[in-house]
Amino acid sequence: MSSSSENITPDTGNIDRERRWDLIDTKGATLWFTGLSGSGKSTVAGALELALLQQGVLCYRLDGDNLRFGLCGNLGFSAEDRTENIRRAGEVAKLFSDSGMLTLCTFISPYRRDRDQLRQIHREAGLEFIEVHVNAPLDVCEQRDPKGLYKKARDGQITGFTGIDDPYEAPESPEIALETASHSVPECVEQIVAFLGQRGLLKQS
Ligand code: ADX
Repeated sequence: MSSSSENITPDTGNIDRERRWDLIDTKGATLWFTGLSGSGKSTVAGALELALLQQGVLCYRLDGDNLRFGLCGNLGFSAEDRTENIRRAGEVAKLFSDSGMLTLCTFISPYRRDRDQLRQIHREAGLEFIEVHVNAPLDVCEQRDPKGLYKKARDGQITGFTGIDDPYEAPESPEIALETASHSVPECVEQIVAFLGQRGLLKQS
């Protein structure tokens, strides 16, 4: 934990995590979806969220585009701003996970160092951080182009677009690797649900 503030003391409240999770019969963890724009992060996480809620598993989605309308509304797409975007999102994910939510985070998060930093803060807090690489070849993402942004990037209307003229550093050993060019959304959801089951994370509320 680091802070620029002086004279602050952590407050532990009246209940610890174990008792909190026991009382509401849940388990928290952060699922961090990383991948190129158009790789399917939001689509898979949206389908997973619905499937989990229908089974009574508490979960919530934090989405890159959505957070940029609020909490991260003052950030752009420079390397520095992306790092700060991921730091804020990761800190929020940590709090949601601590509360007992399965927290589904969908951010391009192009820099390995930033994602490793989140893994580290989760480890220090005793929380699970599950990295999900949503993988699809660039040409497939570009063909999908759901928001028309690749076209704009190719036309020079957007500069610094991930995969075109900005870097993407793929995870080296993610807990889960999804291949969305060759697997359907339900298959990807199934793959994640199976993993969560094996990890004992599907406690129902
Ligand atoms: S991140 O790099 O900081 O993790 P984040 O996931 O929050 O990015 O936001 C990515 C979304 O912003 C994309 O899905 C796309 O809709 C939009 N976007 C706008 N400009 C860019 C850009 N230059 N690079 C990547 N995505 C962009």
